[in-house]
Amino acid sequence: KKIVILISGSGTNLQAIVDKLHNQALDNKQTEIVAVISNKADAFGLQRASDAGIESIVVASKGIASREEYDALLAAEIDKLQPDLIILAGFMRILTSEFVTKYLGKMINIHPSLLPKYTGINTHQRAIDAKDEVHGASVHFVTPELDSGPIVLQAKVPVFSNDTAEDLRERVLTQEHLIYPLVAQWFLAERLTMQGNQAILDGKAL
Ligand code: GRF
Repeated sequence: KKIVILISGSGTNLQAIVDKLHNQALDNKQTEIVAVISNKADAFGLQRASDAGIESIVVASKGIASREEYDALLAAEIDKLQPDLIILAGFMRILTSEFVTKYLGKMINIHPSLLPKYTGINTHQRAIDAKDEVHGASVHFVTPELDSGPIVLQAKVPVFSNDTAEDLRERVLTQEHLIYPLVAQWFLAERLTMQGNQAILDGKAL
């Protein structure tokens, strides 16, 4: 099975997936990350990709006027690779519904909140401001509405009264690195699908 991972930044989730899936699976060639694509040329995740011997591709968003135009360029790169699964790992762009619909049921995202709470950005600060006692991360299928597709798996962490947003970000990120490779494995093993607006694992609606 072929995976393409889209990133914009540091790529710690990419690294977790490389370590847990790509490196192990290479022996029997069951799973391969065929490329990492970034919209930013200076994303550190590109270095991680090349360190792992994975092709890295930049589809620069700078200077591209419209979302439609950018997403068409991105889709053209992806379609050359014919992936079974597209993993958004800190890809910080809103995707057009045309793009999302094209890959419906085969694109997943990780979001740093317990969805449906806190879609969008600054999730950790928002959890602190709301005095939440529990916060976390969610892996979900990508559908046209931002951060709103069927949820596959969530991890919870406590919020402590003296936490900064950075403390919380690190605590959540540690959990992201556990749940994201796991969900990818379920999908690649054909245990996980999206049907209608529902995630199905081992024949059961989640
Ligand atoms: C993570 O917080 C993830 O939840 C969000 O973007 C961040 C990516 O971090 N979607 P990294 O690039 O994987 O380190």
